[in-house]
Amino acid sequence: MAERVRSLADDVEAAVSAAMAGALPAEVASEDPLVRRSDHADFQSNVALSLAKRLGRPPRDVANELRDGLTGADGLARVEVSGPGFLNISLADAALLGRMADRFADPRLGVAESAAGETAVIDYSAPNVAKEMHVGHLRSTLIGDALTRVLTFLGARTVRQNHVGDWGTQFGMLIQYLFEHPEAAWRRKDLDPDETAGTVSALDALYRTARQAFDADPGFKERAQRRVVALQAGDEETVSAWREIVAESEEAFQQIYERLGVLLTPDDIKGESFYNPWLNDVVDELTEKGVLEDSNGAKVVFFDDIRGPEDKPVPMLVRKSDGGFGYAATDLATIRYSIQELGGTRLVYIVDARQSQHFQMVFRAARRAGWLTDDIEAVHAANGTINGPDGRPFKTRSGGTVRLADLLDEALERAREVVAEKDPDLGPDELDHIAHLASVGAVKYAELSTSRTKDYSFDVTRMVSFNGQTGVYLQYTHTRIASILRRAAETGAGLGRFDAGLALEPAERALALALDEFGAVLDAVAEALEPHQLAGYLYVLARAFTGFYESCPVLRSDVPQDVRANRLAFCELTRATLAQGLHLLGIAAPERM
Ligand code: ARG
Repeated sequence: MAERVRSLADDVEAAVSAAMAGALPAEVASEDPLVRRSDHADFQSNVALSLAKRLGRPPRDVANELRDGLTGADGLARVEVSGPGFLNISLADAALLGRMADRFADPRLGVAESAAGETAVIDYSAPNVAKEMHVGHLRSTLIGDALTRVLTFLGARTVRQNHVGDWGTQFGMLIQYLFEHPEAAWRRKDLDPDETAGTVSALDALYRTARQAFDADPGFKERAQRRVVALQAGDEETVSAWREIVAESEEAFQQIYERLGVLLTPDDIKGESFYNPWLNDVVDELTEKGVLEDSNGAKVVFFDDIRGPEDKPVPMLVRKSDGGFGYAATDLATIRYSIQELGGTRLVYIVDARQSQHFQMVFRAARRAGWLTDDIEAVHAANGTINGPDGRPFKTRSGGTVRLADLLDEALERAREVVAEKDPDLGPDELDHIAHLASVGAVKYAELSTSRTKDYSFDVTRMVSFNGQTGVYLQYTHTRIASILRRAAETGAGLGRFDAGLALEPAERALALALDEFGAVLDAVAEALEPHQLAGYLYVLARAFTGFYESCPVLRSDVPQDVRANRLAFCELTRATLAQGLHLLGIAAPERM
């Protein structure tokens, strides 16, 4: 698909490349022109420095020659050589303003559909049935959702896969316990309505009690194991109990998804049980293709270079000697399904970094099986862990896992205080609504502004601050611009319109250069699967807007009509870019807060 609006950086790159082709010998003329944004000019290229040695010439000479070649190039105002041989390149105001006008006129803000033709299968969230969804699942849920939004906006077909843990021997234990203790309340309708903990918490607690009985009472242990066999054999009473547990848990997950405003729906659930019917077939196919080896009655895959302690090869266990299947077998089924049934060209698994060896093994086995080919990309987009505010592993005071719902409640409470303080005139309903948007935005932005591979501390007070790099600051910047535009409409100041005949103030120029980067940032996010590049960009953009608004009055009565229209266009384009960018992170951009 053709690029909608070229970026200014692309133009500068093309100009330097053309100058290189004109001035330099063929063997270096097509090298990367090494153009970057710069504090000394709009852009800087240090290609002369990097090529000088190969050319056997002083870098300044090479730079001078390129400068001569660039002089007079379309859209450039000034090219200077500085220091040991940097090229400082500044654009003509009309070139910047013309490009702003192009972006302003396009509902996509000039962003190309660079991922068109790609089918991305995105495996994310994946909490476990009958267990509390904890803060660890928050990372995968939010990163996966942001990546789905970005890839979709860039034109990819995206398929969400929520690989919930809904199968395994632990269900035998839980179901047996529930059959033996029919008085144990865990269904929503049986729970105390004031008990906010809900179904999953009740199941989680029962699960732990069942585990204790399993470890302590050999009789119960045996009955639980028989229950697993019954579940696997499809025994009606057992399966229907299992179904009920799964349904109640999934409903609780859905409540969290809706509260967070993530895209996941019940239709996206392709849990472990979904793949159950294919596991034998997967094993047969892999056996036939010679990918699986026998090892003491188990079916495994060996890899020369994956070794454990004492340099012993670590195999991937696909089928245990008792005939049971594990996590690896299921993921071999997920990858085959994503390729053959979903037509995935890019498979993205957003899962904790601790599972990285598992995915390396799955990908390599899939390659040996011929499912994963060179035109398909499989990535484990690994994520780090979330720590408590003290930087230590996140635990409640009593040492338990911290419930996601409790964290969201805490963020909501803090956001309500902060928002009420900022705008004491808000009515109670409006305050509730804005505090909700602000708290969810705060949690999401804190997550998405951190590199996904790094660990970070969940610190609610810092997250909901109006200052610093927070979601609230970005939402607030959006509301400020919205209020300027409202006032402009009320006072009949007219509409925004970029005017290529005007001269730019330095703060306008900085804002224009920031606005122009939006598409390139989204491409970088899609390429590296790193939403934090977008989160960081939006902060830079908001700061550039603040700088602009401090030095460039918009509605003041002494501002000439054409300058005001141009500045209103800057306001509107910034507002639209912030709103679109926040939306791609799954963060609301309110009009008022
Ligand atoms: N349920 C797993 C967990 O909580 C994550 C599953 C990730 N997806 C996958 N295809 N393995 O650790």
